[in-house]
Amino acid sequence: MANAKTTNILDTGVKLVRNVGSFNFGNGAVVDLAIHVDKRREIAREAGADDRAVYLVDEFFESSEGFVSLLGSRHEDHVAYVGTADEPTTDSIDKLTAKLIAKGFSNPATIVGVGGGITLDTAKAVANLLTNGGNAADYQGWDLVKVPGVHKIGVPTISGTGSEATRTCVMTNKKTGLKLGMNSDHTVFNHLVLDPNLTATVPRDQYFYTGMDAYIHCVEALAGSYRNAIGDAYSQETLNLCRKVFLADDMMSTEAREQLMVASYLGGSAIAASYVGVVHPFSAGLSVVLGIHHCVANCIALKALGEFYPEANKEFLKMAERQKVLIPAGVCSNLSDEQYEALFKGTIVHEKPLTNALGSDFREILTIDKVVALFKQM
Ligand SMILES: [Fe+2]
Repeated sequence: MANAKTTNILDTGVKLVRNVGSFNFGNGAVVDLAIHVDKRREIAREAGADDRAVYLVDEFFESSEGFVSLLGSRHEDHVAYVGTADEPTTDSIDKLTAKLIAKGFSNPATIVGVGGGITLDTAKAVANLLTNGGNAADYQGWDLVKVPGVHKIGVPTISGTGSEATRTCVMTNKKTGLKLGMNSDHTVFNHLVLDPNLTATVPRDQYFYTGMDAYIHCVEALAGSYRNAIGDAYSQETLNLCRKVFLADDMMSTEAREQLMVASYLGGSAIAASYVGVVHPFSAGLSVVLGIHHCVANCIALKALGEFYPEANKEFLKMAERQKVLIPAGVCSNLSDEQYEALFKGTIVHEKPLTNALGSDFREILTIDKVVALFKQM
């Protein structure tokens, strides 16, 4: 039976996935955010509950004068800027949650997350913790969140991670080395405001790396053995849009930014309905051991993993060249034996995607020697 359990790791069937409740899309859509927040305030007041809002905003906007009032914040609300130097950890989520409770925001009318994947994931995790109690680490896994989180609105300001659409919020547990989110229907945003104008100021390299996350999710999903018609449809359209964006002369034109915002949303929906493959596990190794951010780590990994994804590898290199974006190299040269072993462990632990890509015997292909040799090419 133990054997049956490992070989049937993906036999969980096609799960009905919770989608985002509603969304606005379009250039300038962010001006409607205040209306949505005010609706939540009204609902809270009618229920005799706290009608204040919490805004978790990417630190990038801290110096943008008037930005938070554009988001409909009032002086009685709480605005916290989310640092993006490090990706969320279970500790950082616990600390932020404790801070909100200490400031009297244990049950706000809504939590508005404004930023990239780090900020959106932070908003999702904090919303779950405020209503469920305990620590973030208690909910790392599948369907461990017991009750719905605080109402939450997502406003992405960069496109690609798909965090706005998924039922997870990725966090690293520094104690266990586990990089895993709260996979739960309760993690999905109640509402999204998708405004491509917000991505106009993203630095070009960051824009490329993050956008490629959507591309890579779908390349991996379509090459996997665990497929379904819904996941495939989302993935194929995501790839079509990514090709239009990254093979165009300017990936940041108004049209391209609109297309990439849609690709990000569809790509997030694709991974909610399917699995990733070999790139994400290697990328996770780079993040956990060397602290390299998810999206650039994906690009570094895909560049070295051409034997698993030959066509996508070629197309990706062409896109990087077309957009004049450099992919960092040499990040794994001259590491210690302990670090290479940690990279191996941090990769091989991701059984579901590796089984999806390579079958249940993936350990026979990804031996420690093979994995270390691949990392040395990165
Ligand atoms: Fe990703």
